[in-house]
Formats: sequence, structure tokens, C-alpha cells
Amino acid sequence: EHRCRRTKLMCSLRAHYRSFSFSASLTNVMPAWVINKYGKNEVLRFTKNAALPIIHYSNEVTVKVHAAGLNPIDISMRGCYGAATMAMKRDALNMKQSGSGFPLILGRDVSGEIVECGLDVKYFKPGDQVWAAIPPSVCSPQSLMFMSVTQVSHKPKSLRHVKATSIPYVAATAWSAIVNTGGLNKDNSSKKRVLILGGSGGVGTLAMQMVKAWGAHVTVTCSQNAERLVRELGAGDVVDYTAGPVEKQLQTLQKFDLILDNFGGESEKWALDLLRPWNGAKYVTLVTPFLHNTDRLGLADGMMQKGVHYRWGFFAQRGPTLDEISEMVDSGKVRPVVEEVFSFAQVPRAFQKVEQGHACGKTVVSIEAQKE
Ligand SMILES: NC(=O)c1ccc[n+]([C@@H]2O[C@H](COP(=O)([O-])OP(=O)(O)OC[C@H]3O[C@@H](n4cnc5c(N)ncnc54)[C@H](OP(=O)(O)O)[C@@H]3O)[C@@H](O)[C@H]2O)c1
Repeated sequence: EHRCRRTKLMCSLRAHYRSFSFSASLTNVMPAWVINKYGKNEVLRFTKNAALPIIHYSNEVTVKVHAAGLNPIDISMRGCYGAATMAMKRDALNMKQSGSGFPLILGRDVSGEIVECGLDVKYFKPGDQVWAAIPPSVCSPQSLMFMSVTQVSHKPKSLRHVKATSIPYVAATAWSAIVNTGGLNKDNSSKKRVLILGGSGGVGTLAMQMVKAWGAHVTVTCSQNAERLVRELGAGDVVDYTAGPVEKQLQTLQKFDLILDNFGGESEKWALDLLRPWNGAKYVTLVTPFLHNTDRLGLADGMMQKGVHYRWGFFAQRGPTLDEISEMVDSGKVRPVVEEVFSFAQVPRAFQKVEQGHACGKTVVSIEAQKE
């Protein structure tokens, strides 16, 4: 039975390879963009011979990736950010990675199709259309094309892969920051006032749609060119941070119940004063010193906190969170915001785009362009 499943898998992979212009006489390897050392964009290398991920545990699946999404953390990881922490996590997860962790394959979002399931996987079957956000601690086994993960979710039926792949990582991050850390959810957000600093990027555009769908009033800071986009997505007030000191403009508005900070910088010095006092209001920042400090100092110093209303928000990956977001997408409450789509051959250009900043939504890579 195992041989039969393996043969079917190889047939499926070969069929997939036919869409590329190189030889398909491969059995245990796949094309991928990898890095073999940390650095700038020049370290990205295309290889036809990346190791094909195989199922190690009975609760794993293999996913043929049709589209992948990039995030600022991929740029940071290309340059070594978080390397010590991630290595530590991989050890803790017993991922049996030896040596330097290279070659490393970057990319945090995938949308694709289940190819093979471990023996204990009941909820998914080969052919299921899925999406997933890949935690930064999982680097080596998967790629922009194939991966093995346990925490995938069925993708929204209403979206094709290129659009779907723009959502998982930023949505899981926004959910973790707003719901788990910020304490808002669909049942308690009505009439709450939410401020999103840095609202026009990947996390901001998702976060604002979520809280808006739950009945909150949303204020967003962004540059003027993004105003139309964030208004379309549901922002009630929009503050242009390029038109003078942003805190002065925000001080003229009613106080907030939750601030989600996607930008950091000087904002934490004045943002706490914008919160409604004595009401459990929270400032949650995604721009945390955690990984930098942990790389430099070790784990404990990276986790220091200050003040009850000040929280660090982190990406947290759970299949059920993506299930809820999938429902929000299919019911029209959340829509993908894709700024630019690159082909698989253009992966370095996609990295460049994300590195340049000024995002208006997400940058994605289409692996099978002809299907979209
Ligand atoms: N802690 C975690 O686990 C975690 C997880 C995900 C993301 N993050 C971090 O969260 C941040 C946001 O992520 P993202 O994916 O949304 O990034 P992104 O897509 O690059 O978006 C950042 C947005 O901020 C805007 N911006 C820049 N300066 C601004 C300012 N002074 N005021 C208001 N807006 C400003 C940018 O547009 P303009 O420059 O055109 O204004 C851009 O739209 C990043 O720093 C990322 O590393 C952390």
C-alpha cells in the first residue's frame, strides 16, 4: 500500500514538474529557492535539487503549493534575524535538523493541495484545497512548493490560490494580537474603538477588516496614497502620518479601547495616552524586541514586559483560527488585499518588493500561474 501511495505521489509531483522547463527525471528532489548563508538578496539561489519533504509522523500532510506569500519576517530571516531562537525552537520540536540549518527555504504562507496524508490524519484527504501559515521555527523541511505541516486548514472556497495565500500569516498574526492578546472578539467588539498604526500593510489591512466585521469603529494611520484602500476596507477615520505629527492628530479623536501597532518606532511613547483609562484598554505592538534580544542575550531577557496595558503581540499558528478566517472570507467579511503577484522565477524580485516597504497589502508568488 505504501509503495502504491508513493508511486501516486511521484506521478503527481512529475505532473507538477512538467510546468517547469527542466528535466522531470527526479524522484526525491524538487525545485526551490533556498539560501545557504545569511545576507542580502544575492544569497537567494534557485535549485532543482532541494530535498523533497516526506512525512515523518503519522499526523503530518504533504502539500503541493500553488502559491506562496512573503512577509517582512522573510526578509529579516534572510539576514539572520531570529536564527538562534529558531534553532532553539527546532531543537525543542525535535525536528532532527543537524548542522547550520542550511539550506533554508523562506516563505511563510502557502495555499495548495494535499498530496499525501499520514496514517492518523482523518480531517484531510489527498486533493483537499488547503492554506497554512508556516511558523518561523519551521524552516528546513518545506519550500515554496511543497511542505509537511500538521496545522493546515481548508482554504476559503471563494478564493483562488494566489489570493488565498495573501492571508494566512497576517491573519493569524492579527488574530493572535487582537483576540488572544488584545481581548476583542466577535461578541464583545461592538462599539469598541480600535486604532491601527501602520494600517496599509499586510497585517493592518487584515486586522481592520476583522474588527470592523465584529462591529468596532476603526481608525487607521497610513500615508495619503493608501487612504482610499483603507477606507474601502472599513476605516472610519484615517490619519495621514506624513501630514505632521501623527500623535497630535490622534489626540483630537475620542480615546481608544485597543491600539494595534504595526509600525513601532516612537509610537509607544505617546500611544498609551490615547487609550481610554480604567477600562481594560490595551496597546499591543507587533514590533517586538523579542527575537533580537533572544539572539543577543538568551531567552529570559527577550521576554521582559512593562506595564499592564502594554503587550507584545506575536504570530501564533493554529489551524482552527484559519478555519474561522476562512469562514469570514467566504461570507464576504474579509477580502484579500494583493498588491503584486510574481512568478516562481521572479522570487528574488518579490523579496526586493517586500524589502522596499510601503506595502499596500501583500506580495505573493504564483507557482502555477496557468491555474490562476
Ligand atoms: N511579532 C510578530 O510575530 C509579527 C508578526 C507579523 C508581523 N510583525 C511585524 O509587524 C509589522 C507589520 O507587518 P506587515 O506584514 O503588516 O508589514 P508591511 O506589510 O510591510 O506593512 C507595514 C505598513 O506600515 C506602513 N508604515 C510605515 N511607516 C509608517 C508610519 N510611520 N505610520 C503608519 N504607517 C506606516 C507602511 O506603508 P508606508 O511606508 O507607505 O506608509 C506599510 O503599509 C512589521 O514590522 C512586521 O515585522 C510581527
